[in-house]
Amino acid sequence: MDRIRITGGNALRGIIPISGAKNAALPLMIASLLTSDTLTLENVPHLADVEGLMRILGNHGVDIAVNGRRERQENDYSRTIHFTCRTIADTTAPYELVSKMRASFWVIGPLLAREGRARVSLPGGCAIGTRPVDLFLEALTALGADIEIDGGYVNATAPKGGLLGARYRFPKVSVGATHVMMMAATLANGTTVIENAAREPEALDLANCLNAMGAKISGAGTKTITVEGVASLSGARHRVLPDRIETGTYAMAVAMTGGDVTLEGTDAALLETALDTLRQTGAEITATETGLRIVRTGDRIMPVDVVTEPFPGFPTDLQAQFMALMTRSSGVSHITETIFENRFMHVQELARLGARISLSGQMARVEGVSRLKGAPVMATDLRASVSLVIAGLAAEGETVVNRVYHLDRGFERLEEKLTRCGALVERVSE
Ligand code: EPZ
Repeated sequence: MDRIRITGGNALRGIIPISGAKNAALPLMIASLLTSDTLTLENVPHLADVEGLMRILGNHGVDIAVNGRRERQENDYSRTIHFTCRTIADTTAPYELVSKMRASFWVIGPLLAREGRARVSLPGGCAIGTRPVDLFLEALTALGADIEIDGGYVNATAPKGGLLGARYRFPKVSVGATHVMMMAATLANGTTVIENAAREPEALDLANCLNAMGAKISGAGTKTITVEGVASLSGARHRVLPDRIETGTYAMAVAMTGGDVTLEGTDAALLETALDTLRQTGAEITATETGLRIVRTGDRIMPVDVVTEPFPGFPTDLQAQFMALMTRSSGVSHITETIFENRFMHVQELARLGARISLSGQMARVEGVSRLKGAPVMATDLRASVSLVIAGLAAEGETVVNRVYHLDRGFERLEEKLTRCGALVERVSE
């Protein structure tokens, strides 16, 4: 199993190209199930989760053609991929596939909308929380679907003439359930109004792509989304938006190690709250024409409290990375996680590097220390793993991050991007 070996202490200087967003690419790929024409997606990141979803979509009958590396800029390896689902070959998403990646549960929306039925395995919990699917099932029921749970599977059936437009208010914001309801409603009869919808940029990106395919969606990016059903969708060409979590992760790495890095191909507007928080820690951040520049020259990292919230609040997907930064602050900070109930697995691993963190329910109290010292560490999810990489970059000596497959799910060419900025990072294969 691969490991990442980091020798800490170097400031980061240079340019890091930001990839297409994993969490936008996944629902966009799933949207290809809604049409018999070709959906072409540009700027698709080369990640294990994307490859995994391609296998799952292939099982449903999607024909996938991958273009070679794009030549737009020297460092950009993100690809253009064509997805064509002439007919749905199978309306079942089996346990073996769904249990490997939660987002594959989302195929339930398009399958139900296009074929009138879907049999999709319940995904089960995961390392960061129980993550139930009750909101998906309520939303689909509101659209007229008949839902039955049998043998670990959700059997969903649409009414005879197809799904029916409806008004539904989510009792809690869910990114995935908003994606699914939006996709299902595009082909429903009549108008659907989704209230308390997720406002994440990825939901807006999905709506923009669906509209390019002929859907009639308005209000995406706000709390109320209106979808007027249409009879069918066509193909389209769409560019996946930049990865705001990758952007924030590298920004935090620079805030921690010091240095001067330009993040190319991204957009500061995608993560205002996180960038404002980073400014308060002492980093200088300026928007450039093609991305943003982050500089930290001072010695001190100021302590700042954060609470994770749905967009536009501070993202849960940057919580672990921010905690890594706060381990070296010059005081005490409090980090409260409100989205997932078990997203503090990095705490014990950061402690192995010398961090002083105590947990009380959903709040972590982080007392900054003057130095971290390298150690072998591992984590059980993607963002926790990368927080250990960030801490390793600032720690004295050698840190070995085990279970690199978590990083490969969501960070394209991580070690290459960091190495080009002067970090000592290498992948060790066994
Ligand atoms: C998306 O997950 C992201 N995944 C997550 O990123 C991200 O952490 C999360 O949104 C929150 O921003 C993808 O986009 C692929 P939710 P999702 O439904 O859609 C509860 C990463 O590291 N809930 O918004 O699964 C749920 O348990 C990943 O890239 C219900 O109670 O998240 C959680 O507490 C991790 N019932 C909260 O809502 C439901 O039916 C928000 O989850 C659905 C969700």
